Order: sequence, then C-alpha cells, then structure tokens
Amino acid sequence: AQLNDLAVRAGLKYFGTALREGAINSDTAYAAILKNKSEFGQLVPENGQKWDATEASRGTFTYTQGDITANVAKSTGQGLRCHTMVWYSQLPNWVSGGSWTRAALTSVIETHMANVMGHYIGQCYAWDVANEAVADDGSWRDSIFYRTFGTDFLPISFNAAKKVDPNTKLYYNDYNLEYNGAKTNRAVELVQIVQSAGAPIDGVGFQGHLIVGSTPSRSSLATVLKRFTALGVEVAYTELDIRHSSLPASSAAQVTQGNDFANVVGSCLDVAGCVGVTVWSFTDKYSWIPETFSGQGDALIYDKNFNKKAAWTSISSVFAAK
Ligand code: G3I
Repeated sequence: AQLNDLAVRAGLKYFGTALREGAINSDTAYAAILKNKSEFGQLVPENGQKWDATEASRGTFTYTQGDITANVAKSTGQGLRCHTMVWYSQLPNWVSGGSWTRAALTSVIETHMANVMGHYIGQCYAWDVANEAVADDGSWRDSIFYRTFGTDFLPISFNAAKKVDPNTKLYYNDYNLEYNGAKTNRAVELVQIVQSAGAPIDGVGFQGHLIVGSTPSRSSLATVLKRFTALGVEVAYTELDIRHSSLPASSAAQVTQGNDFANVVGSCLDVAGCVGVTVWSFTDKYSWIPETFSGQGDALIYDKNFNKKAAWTSISSVFAAK
C-alpha cells in the first residue's frame, strides 16, 4: 500500500507533498509519482502562491505559477494546502521596502488576500495565513509587518483571511517549533494573542525541517504538538524533510533517517489533533536544501532516481502499526 492510503487508514486526513512548479511538466517520472493519490493525498505549491509570484507589482495579480498545483489537484482529486500569505520572505520590494501607515498596510494585506485567497476559494483545505513570524531565539521576527503593527498584524491577518474564505482552515506555520524551546514558547503566545484578540485561528503548521540524528524523539514531539492542541487548534507537519548534514550518507545514516521520519510521523499519530503530514518535495532530486545548506541534503523519502528509501519504508511501517 502507498503512504496516503496508509495514513488515512491510520486516522490522518492525508499524507501530502510539495509540488515543484519547474519540474512537474518536464519530468514524467516525477509527475507520475506526485499525481498518485494513493501515495500523496494532498499537494502544496512549493513557490507558486507566494506574494512575489502572485502580486509582484501592486494590484497586478498573476496565478500562472499557483495554478500549476491547483490544476493538478483538480485533475487528480488530490487535496490542496495553500501557502502562504503574510511572510517576510519572497515578499516583493514594493511591500517590504515601503513605509506604511497601519491603515495603508492593512489595505495592502486585505487586497492581497481578497484576490489570491479569492482566486483559490473552495479549493484549499488550509491556508498558511502567517508564516515564520518568530525568530529562532524566540524574539518576534523583524519584518515590515512587525515594524508597522507590532503583533497586531497577526489578528489583522487572520481576521482578513476569514472574511475572504470562511471555510478554509487558517494556519500559523513555522519551523524549529519541534525543539520545544524559546521559539515554541513564543509561538504558543502567538496563538494566544490571536485568540485573545477574538480573531480566528484553526491550526499550527510544524514545518519539520529537521536534521538526521538530531530529530527529537516521538514522545518529545508529541508533547510539543499537544501544547498547541491544548489551545484548541489542530496541528500538522507541513514541510517535512530530514537532511543529512554530510554527504554521501552512510547506510547507517539512512537507517537513522528512517527512524527520524518514523518518530515524526508517529508523533502525529499519537496526538488527536494532528491531521496530516506533508513532505517538502518527495525526491532528493528536487529539494531547497543544497542551495541553502551547502553539502547537506538527501532529506526526502525517494532518492534522486525515484527509488524508495529506507525512510519511505519506515513511514509505511509506522502507519501500518497503528
Ligand atoms: O523564480 C526564480 C527564477 O526566475 C530564477 O531563474 C531562479 C534562479 O535562482 O530563481 C528562481 O527563484 C527561486 C525560487 O525558489 C523559485 O524556484 C529562488 O532563487 C529560491 O531562493 C527559491 O527558494 C525557495 C525558498 O522557499 C525561498 O524562500 C524554495 O524553492 C522553497 O522550497 C522554500 O520553501 C520554504 C517555505 O516556503 C517556507 N518554509 C521554509 C521553506 C524552505 O526554505
């Protein structure tokens, strides 16, 4: 059996993957695996729905890149996760470099959401409304949004998103929450800030950009997921990859990678409000990691030649054991 089928049988809503827009129409082996709904029940565009792809200049909206993933999902019947609205990165200069009054930047956010979320209305299981608002040391991340509003940009964004699409799940999404440190504490506070402002928030996405051999245990991960479900929101792993910090990986390191994937997926199975797992691409052929962390990578569940890795087998075993 394939991973999404196993995930659903084990009680999750989906096992999904990111879709790389530049590969789907040129790489038939890639496309065949990606479009297999038994393997991946939900897709998320790796880059196509981001602000720089959808509103590079003010008021001009482009959906060519974002529609690549949405159209695949429509044709296969796979679900769609939507990513992302308010984020400091891949943010065009006309937004990040502006000096805004609160009213003007509120209107920029609302207009962006009305158009982009409006374009995909009815298609997104969830939207990442705010992404990476906390720095690794637990301070609020510097951005045009934080500089203009303080933390008020959070309730403003979640309220604006709800107005456009009342039926999608509204998520806060971030990385390194898995370690249950200062950053996690701040993300808990973030959820509480949104909630105490009376704004809607439905979920917290754990990106899950992890490292082989340094991935927390299944029970530690379940503990940190539960800090969020205790607040009444669902959780999901939204961008899972577990990179080798040096390459080539030994066969022992491949086994460790498999165990790490099993711990992450297992922790989701252990927490009632954890709804699904998405890998941030499924093949080592297409991953953001080598560009960002030189010499590292092979972080996914298929190798560069589309052979299933030990990690694939470990995940399937964890699902089957549930
Ligand atoms: O679109 C241009 C293209 O025109 C140009 O020729 C090419 C040359 O470098 O660059 C292309 O842009 C790249 C873009 O991906 C689209 O492929 C950027 O250089 C590259 O930096 C960008 O990287 C993406 C990264 O987000 C940017 O922050 C990665 O693919 C994507 O995997 C990564 O995803 C993020 C999540 O959205 C949020 N969480 C972290 C995660 C990993 O960084």
